[in-house]
Amino acid sequence: MSLQGKRILVGLTGGIACYKIPYLVRYLWKDKAEIRVVMTEAATKFITPLTLESVSNNPVASDLFPADRFVGTRHIDMAQWPDLVVVAPATANFMGKVVSGISDDLLTTIICATPKPVMIAPAMNPQMWLNKVTQRNFATLKELGYIFVGPGEGGTACDHYGIGRMAEPEELYEAIKKFLAKGSRQSRKKKALTGKKILITAGPTREAIDPVRFISNRSSGKMGFALAEAAVASGAETTLISGPTDLTPPAGVRYITIETTGQLRTAVKKEFVKSDCLIMAAAPADYQPKKKQLSKIKKSDKELTLPLKPTVDILKDIASVRRKKQVVVGFALETDDAIANARRKLKEKKLDMIVVNTPGADTGFEHDTNSVTLIMPGKKPVELPLASKSQISFSILDRLSTLL
Ligand SMILES: Cc1cc2nc3c(=O)[nH]c(=O)nc-3n(C[C@H](O)[C@H](O)[C@H](O)COP(=O)(O)O)c2cc1C
Repeated sequence: MSLQGKRILVGLTGGIACYKIPYLVRYLWKDKAEIRVVMTEAATKFITPLTLESVSNNPVASDLFPADRFVGTRHIDMAQWPDLVVVAPATANFMGKVVSGISDDLLTTIICATPKPVMIAPAMNPQMWLNKVTQRNFATLKELGYIFVGPGEGGTACDHYGIGRMAEPEELYEAIKKFLAKGSRQSRKKKALTGKKILITAGPTREAIDPVRFISNRSSGKMGFALAEAAVASGAETTLISGPTDLTPPAGVRYITIETTGQLRTAVKKEFVKSDCLIMAAAPADYQPKKKQLSKIKKSDKELTLPLKPTVDILKDIASVRRKKQVVVGFALETDDAIANARRKLKEKKLDMIVVNTPGADTGFEHDTNSVTLIMPGKKPVELPLASKSQISFSILDRLSTLL
């Protein structure tokens, strides 16, 4: 099979099996794949970047902050670029970092930022592989949708016998070809939501105070947009209704923009009747000024009191027009008693699932990552540890597909 037009980002981390990777790169190169190589600092101790530059015909990247050049947001460009990311060999350290969302070098930052499928070929001493933390990380990464090849059983470079040996370059090459032939992780999941109409809301709303000022919140729309991208990739006919954001709507969605909570409510009501499922990831303003001033409020030294009234709760409102078996998923951003509050909302708003997140250093509004808890009536909460919003979206849609 020719790999012409396929872009593969190969990441190397610091294990002895690095010496096998030039073979893998050469196989892919012969099949005309476009290859970029990223090495961790530890990987460069085992094999030189020059070797990989020679076999990939491209410069190798290692530094997140190169001393001699300005590379801007190269990590984001590199995260978007490939059809598939392959990390081989993958150290125990690398797996631990990815599970925790740690992005402290170029490779782990790319992994955190990529919406693309990631294939991992672990390689390590058998004791390291059997270590309970490594095993837990392995299980979590699989649950999050990372694709594993190996490790196999056999003798390792440290002269031990057991499981931990990296899959041979030929085996990896076959796995890559098979995966790319079948399509990406997203297209494999395509079956799950094919034929379903999913309505997703995203972003904040704005409530005008006067012609130039408004009340809003920190929602960036990233979670809703990631959900929409995942829904399209999973085969759903997807409509995305969004408040003001800087984001570009994912290819393949029907995109509707709104500004106020009232407009969001109208659009949701109209679209909801045609949908199988509503995912309410938007963060509508809870309050609006009682009265919008028609002229700009003049600045003065006096205190200004702004009377506010609550906006209509869209999910509560939708309860009246719903129930021809539509599935409704709400989001709750809670700072206190998150689970108890979310359970109350789940009941009050007659939801099928509520996704709870809390604002944090890398969770909630504005971040590219999130960690959430899924609560469904009568079921044990499901915790999704820190991962990219794209990966979280696929996990949410996985659960959702069982409800639809
Ligand atoms: C000679 C030598 C061989 C190593 N081989 C492995 C290995 O095969 N797998 C592994 O997980 N760690 C191995 N390590 C440890 C890693 O290199 C170390 O954890 C490092 O911090 C990994 O960094 P990285 O994940 O950023 O590449 C080895 C270390 C040394 C000194």
